[in-house]
Amino acid sequence: MLDRLNAIREQAVSAIAASADITALERIETDFLGRKGVLTSLLRTLGSLPAEQRPQFGSAVNALKQELADGIEKRRQELKELIGAVKIAGLDITLPGRSLPLGRLHPITQVLNEVCDIFRRMGFGVAEGPEVELDFYNFEALNIPANHPARDMQDTFYVDDKVLLRTHTSPIQVRTMERLQPPLRIIAPGKVYRCDSDVTHTPMFHQVEGLMVDTDISFAYLKGTLTHFIQHFFDAKTSVRFRPSFFPFTEPSAEVDIQCVICRGKGCRVCSNTGWLEVLGAGMVHPAVFRSIGYDSERYTGFAFGLGIERFTMLRYGIDDIRLFYENDLRFLRQF
Ligand code: DAH
Repeated sequence: MLDRLNAIREQAVSAIAASADITALERIETDFLGRKGVLTSLLRTLGSLPAEQRPQFGSAVNALKQELADGIEKRRQELKELIGAVKIAGLDITLPGRSLPLGRLHPITQVLNEVCDIFRRMGFGVAEGPEVELDFYNFEALNIPANHPARDMQDTFYVDDKVLLRTHTSPIQVRTMERLQPPLRIIAPGKVYRCDSDVTHTPMFHQVEGLMVDTDISFAYLKGTLTHFIQHFFDAKTSVRFRPSFFPFTEPSAEVDIQCVICRGKGCRVCSNTGWLEVLGAGMVHPAVFRSIGYDSERYTGFAFGLGIERFTMLRYGIDDIRLFYENDLRFLRQF
C-alpha cells in the first residue's frame, strides 16, 4: 500500500512541475485531490483493510494529500508570477492566439488548372508564349491578312505597328510549331487582351489553346478529344454539338456547343431558349498556317481549338457577370 502511495506521489510531483499554465495545474488538482480523484478513491478503500492497518494508512494518505495541495499552491504562485512578468514585458501569453487566414486559389486559376489536368491526362504537354506579341504570330502566320477586321483598333491593343497585346492564345500554336517537329500534342493556357468591356467581356481574360499535329489526324480526333474533355469537365451526360463555322486559321472550322448546363436543354434565359451554349472554337489546321512555319502541308494534318476559361467558370458555378472575377471582393472569392 505504501508503495502505491509513493508511485502516486512521484507521478503527481512531476505532473505539477511540468504544468505550463493554470488550466493544466487545475486539471492535475482535480485528478489527484478532487472528489473523484485518485487519493479520495484510495481513502474509500480503507474499510477493506485489516483494522490494525487502517490508522497508519489513513494518515499516510492524508499527509500525501496535504503535501500535494502545498505543491500545487506553490506552483500556482510560480505560474502567476511568470505570467505577470511576461505581461509587464509587453507580452500577454494568456491572450487567445490569432488564427492565420488561409489563402486560396482564384476561381479562374482553379478552373485553368483543372482544364490543363484533363488534357495532361490525355497526353498533352503544356506550352507558353508571350503576352506582348508580334503582329506576325498573332495574325499574319495565322492566315489573318492585314485588312482583317480582327486587327481593328477597336479590338486589339497595339503597342506599335508590329507589336500588340495578344488577342488570343493561338499565336502559341505558331511558336510551338516553329520550335518542334510533329508529332505534337500541346495545350497553351494564358492571358489574352481585347478592347472590350461589359457583363460578358473584360479587357483581359484567359484562354486555353490546343493543338495536335501528326500524319493522320482527322476531324474524328478533334471530336473525340473535345467530347471527352467536355464530359469530364461538366458531366458525362452533357451532349456536345459541332456546328460549322469560320476561322481564318482552320479549315474546316467548327464551333462547339454543349447542352445548356442550367436548363439541361429545355431552353432558358442563359441559352436564349435554344437549349445550347457555345463554348469552343475549333477546326483542322489550315494548310496556310503549316506553310507559314515551314511544315509540309501535304504530309501533316492537325486539329486546333481555343476556349475561354471565364466562360467555363461562369457555366460551372452559375455566375452571370464576368466582372465579378476581377473586382477582388473577398465575399465573392471566398465561396470557391
Ligand atoms: N482564337 C480563337 C478566338 O480567340 C479561338 C479558336 C478558334 C482557336 C478555332 C483555335 C481554333 O485554335 O481552331 O476566338
